[in-house]
Amino acid sequence: MTTPIYYVNAEPHLGHAYTTIVGDALTRWHRLLGDEVMYLTGTDEHGLKIQQAAEEAGTTPQAFADEIAPKFAAAWERLDIAYDDFIRTTEPRHYKAVEEILQRCYDAGDIELDTFAGKYCVSCEEYYSDDELITIDGVPDCCPIHRRPVEYFEEENYFFRLSRFEDRLLDWYAQHPTAMKPEHRGNEALGLIKGGLRDFSISRTSLKWGVPLPWDPNHVTYVWFDALTNYLTAVGFGDGTEGYEKWWPVDYHLIGKDIVRQHCVYWPAMLMSAGIDPPKGWAIGGWLLVDNEKMSKTSGNVVNPLDLIDDIGLDGFRYYVLADTAYGNDGDFTYDGLVARYNADLANNLGNLAARVATVVGKKCGGVGTAPNPDSALAAVAATAVEDTTRWWDEVQPSRALDASWQLVRATNAHLEANEPWKADPGPEVDAVMGDALEALRIVAILASPAIPSTAQAVWERIGQTGAVTDQRVPADTAWGGYQPGADVIKGAPLFPRLKA
Ligand code: MSP
Repeated sequence: MTTPIYYVNAEPHLGHAYTTIVGDALTRWHRLLGDEVMYLTGTDEHGLKIQQAAEEAGTTPQAFADEIAPKFAAAWERLDIAYDDFIRTTEPRHYKAVEEILQRCYDAGDIELDTFAGKYCVSCEEYYSDDELITIDGVPDCCPIHRRPVEYFEEENYFFRLSRFEDRLLDWYAQHPTAMKPEHRGNEALGLIKGGLRDFSISRTSLKWGVPLPWDPNHVTYVWFDALTNYLTAVGFGDGTEGYEKWWPVDYHLIGKDIVRQHCVYWPAMLMSAGIDPPKGWAIGGWLLVDNEKMSKTSGNVVNPLDLIDDIGLDGFRYYVLADTAYGNDGDFTYDGLVARYNADLANNLGNLAARVATVVGKKCGGVGTAPNPDSALAAVAATAVEDTTRWWDEVQPSRALDASWQLVRATNAHLEANEPWKADPGPEVDAVMGDALEALRIVAILASPAIPSTAQAVWERIGQTGAVTDQRVPADTAWGGYQPGADVIKGAPLFPRLKA
């Protein structure tokens, strides 16, 4: 599982956190399924954009990157991201892998010297043809993504003969129709290929900040060719270790919709040229917009995820990011939306259920967990929740997966309201109702753990279960009846204190 590697020209913001949290939750979900997962993230440190940012800051690109890269790593620690490797493209291991793939493509005859004359967006680090550019407020030749004028340049470059790969890419995707999720984003990528592929320049002579071409060191490698290769570097491509055999091809590249061309068109073609299998899958997300604009330093609308955690708690924030937007679509970030989602699903639903169960078990069952009823009406609800949650994670739809898990939370609250155990006298009936609720909470804790890992563990412990919730397995441990009665049930402080709108 991979995230894009983030440019070090900006500090980590909500947009970066979004993709990284989705990848983290998907990683954790697969670990629950018993899959061994390597989760990779890192930083993209070469190219004109970083060189220019360093110049503006009055420092060298390396010193600049050295300052920002650890901020990404630190943000991911704070967001409880279970990553296994953090790659930086300035590391020696990465240079080796880039040289290896370049050499392979060159030897295959797919890289040739030519002259480039055209337009380039430094923010995208991408070439544009005239018909792709737009006019903004009378200013022609603006980048359609960054909405700023592109630069013109002309120089001798090496080109990757992408145009030769059109049929091979279309054939490959026809044989792997579900490789790109969700389908509508995959169709956009296919549209790019069907629209015709142009060779692209993979080297620059006017730029010094990058990996020199192994056969012509006057050129440095185009930053995207370099950056994409990080996914191979991290599994040991080119260094003779066994990681590459074990982990490649990657199962999921998580990417934003703005980098589909590079990941779903350039990258598989580069791999094919080098004699390497294409990725097994891509999961393409939309943007989290603020006031209908993509968050960016230039727009000045950057939301710092770490500030939000201070207000809403780590798991509250993670849950919001995962639950509020269907992956693949754009989402609109608002503080009110964050609070509303938190209060509805976490404070009033899950948090309330956990508190209620502990209170009633305390008052009516001597504070000790009771056994669930094997024939409970909730058993079927739980089975459906497990099934649907599994299906939606498989489709990389965290919002739907969480909604499926929350069906069980809602049904359990309804079950308590229908039975009103708080009004009944202690006895076997109350014990059975509370046993059902405890069992439902146990299953919910497992299902929700990819999204809200520390709260899920807290629920797990409060209902008297031992060990780590993350050591549970789906579906073996989510079958109805696994709750171990007889342990103390603890109320504790509210898991999700209600927030004022
Ligand atoms: N460095 C390249 C990726 C190279 S991967 C081999 C890059 N970096 S980036 O930092 O600009 O963006 C990385 C990812 O963050 C992209 O997938 C982009 O879509 C995502 N996001 C940046 N801002 C975003 C939002 N506001 N919302 C959601 N994701 C956005 O591109």
